[in-house]
Amino acid sequence: MNGSSPKAAARRLAAAHALVRVVEGGRALPAALRAAAPEERGWVQEMAYGVCRWYYRLQAMLDPLLRRPLRKRDAPVRMLLLIGLYELEILGHPPHAVVHESVASAGRLRRPWAGGLVNAVLRGWLRQRERLLPGLEADLQARTAHPLWLVEHLRSAWPAQWMRICEAGLERPPMTLRVNLARTDRDAYCRRLREAGLQARPLAGLPAALVLERPVGAEDLPGFSQGLVSVQDAAAQLAAPILDASAGMRVLDACAAPGGKTAHLLEAAGGRLDLLALDREPARLHQLNATLHRLGWQAESRVADAGAPERWWDGRPFDRILLDAPCSATGVIRRQPDVKLHRCPEQIPRLVERQRHLLESLWGTLAPGGRLLYATCSVLPAENAEQIRWFLGTHADARAVAAVAGPVEVRAGGTQILPGTHEMDGFYYALLEKRNT
Ligand SMILES: C[S@@+](CC[C@H](N)C(=O)[O-])C[C@H]1O[C@@H](n2cnc3c(N)ncnc32)[C@H](O)[C@@H]1O
Repeated sequence: MNGSSPKAAARRLAAAHALVRVVEGGRALPAALRAAAPEERGWVQEMAYGVCRWYYRLQAMLDPLLRRPLRKRDAPVRMLLLIGLYELEILGHPPHAVVHESVASAGRLRRPWAGGLVNAVLRGWLRQRERLLPGLEADLQARTAHPLWLVEHLRSAWPAQWMRICEAGLERPPMTLRVNLARTDRDAYCRRLREAGLQARPLAGLPAALVLERPVGAEDLPGFSQGLVSVQDAAAQLAAPILDASAGMRVLDACAAPGGKTAHLLEAAGGRLDLLALDREPARLHQLNATLHRLGWQAESRVADAGAPERWWDGRPFDRILLDAPCSATGVIRRQPDVKLHRCPEQIPRLVERQRHLLESLWGTLAPGGRLLYATCSVLPAENAEQIRWFLGTHADARAVAAVAGPVEVRAGGTQILPGTHEMDGFYYALLEKRNT
């Protein structure tokens, strides 16, 4: 590491500014990283994701080292400090280089005091670390690096597993691929990977899944642009086999973008579905269309509110509906650590209300004997098991159905996959069938 080069200072500042956009500006990490120059993106991404992942611990490390909290307008200085602490404590980077480089970057912030403060705080941590560590362990938010409200929700929902769920939220997620079995087979694709110098292993029970030993950019995957492979977590690869849509069926993917599950549904049926994909976000639906184009599948796609079928439904009932509902994303924190910064407890009842409305509205479009798969990437029972209990209790024509997909048994009434189980993200699936009355 060249501690004081202008390039090193520039990328450190780019990471600090990206973090300001996420923490203060409410931006999602991928959007906040777009401004980084290509040559610095790798480093900036590592720091921005790392600081978000450990934010609640790093901020608790910082607080006792400051005489008074930094003002909101000095957020870039605070982010430089969090990056420095992340490197010292989590990455174990050499202290001298971290302090030197952080001070040099602070010197470019047009705040004459910033370099001195950064120097004092980072050296203060190195000096006082042993004295301060017990305080972090005693503080649940600092210990778990998750916001207290979420830890409390998890603890009451999952008394035996909440610690493991928090630990899983701090892990680096695997990069999991879904081989397009309509175009190649898994062994052949594995050989293509090896030829490109990439190692991967299969996941038991999931015929299309491969886990890469080391993550790479999707564009660097052999055959990606020709549609041989997609990037998709293993839990998300369960939707298609659970819903089991077969050739000729009329299928609705209600909240479909960016289209990972839409494409898998088509792949599993050799493309022979009469499929309608909806999403209410035009930019996201655009991504879905690009994905289907890349993979060579055809489907009707529309920007629409799935909760208002009177505006888009032609009256022909669906045999299968996938409702991959908007949710708290508390099951995918290892992939999206900014979720911890952007969610607040008040959002949960509002999400539950939206999910109920979607379930209610879509149920009317399902054919008798048809099936609806309700899915979320949440681990909160209010969005999952309680939701389905409410639905079954208020809809006499609905019955819960069991299913098996790979290593996961979906029980009648729904199954929660906790993050890290079977190397999967946290997901919830419940399969409902409309009675033939
Ligand atoms: C969990 S994501 C879906 C992921 C997608 N199924 C996949 O596998 O790639 C939820 C999606 O629902 C969309 N959404 C939220 N509310 C909606 C509504 N009322 N109608 C249609 N789409 C909605 C969001 O824009 C978002 O793209």
